[in-house]
Amino acid sequence: MTASQESASQGPAPARRTVVAAVGAAGIAAVLTACAGSDDGSSEPAGNASSAGGGGSEELARTSDIPEGGGKIFADAGVVVTQPKKGEFKGFTSTCTHQGCAVTKVEDGTIDCPCHGSRFSIEDGSVAHPPATRPLPEKKIVVKGGSISLA
Ligand code: FES
Repeated sequence: MTASQESASQGPAPARRTVVAAVGAAGIAAVLTACAGSDDGSSEPAGNASSAGGGGSEELARTSDIPEGGGKIFADAGVVVTQPKKGEFKGFTSTCTHQGCAVTKVEDGTIDCPCHGSRFSIEDGSVAHPPATRPLPEKKIVVKGGSISLA
């Protein structure tokens, strides 16, 4: 007697239905971003406060650094400071109005651009020699206690 047992292990995978409860998260819109009117005393510097003449003045030079009847170029600050007359200081942009080169020299009463030879008066930035046609714009400076800074 032979008993043959066949163990058929065929089982169809039961289809399982997983019901996922989708949580409607419409109500979770956090309204945490309403920080417009924080009256906290936390004084955070708000970027550039370029109005109202706030403090932020960096010293460019000492008045004694600026030769009388001449001037000095502060390339990093983009400024030329001149002293046309004793005790009278002026500031101009150091970018030539012709094609935008940086001026490199103050000599013989003029601020000189090396690119095409324009020269500007140390007194008012006016064109003393072409090809530039527009004066160097003035940059406001403050002279206080022997110290010169941008306004
Ligand atoms: S850019 Fe200064 S003279 Fe031309």
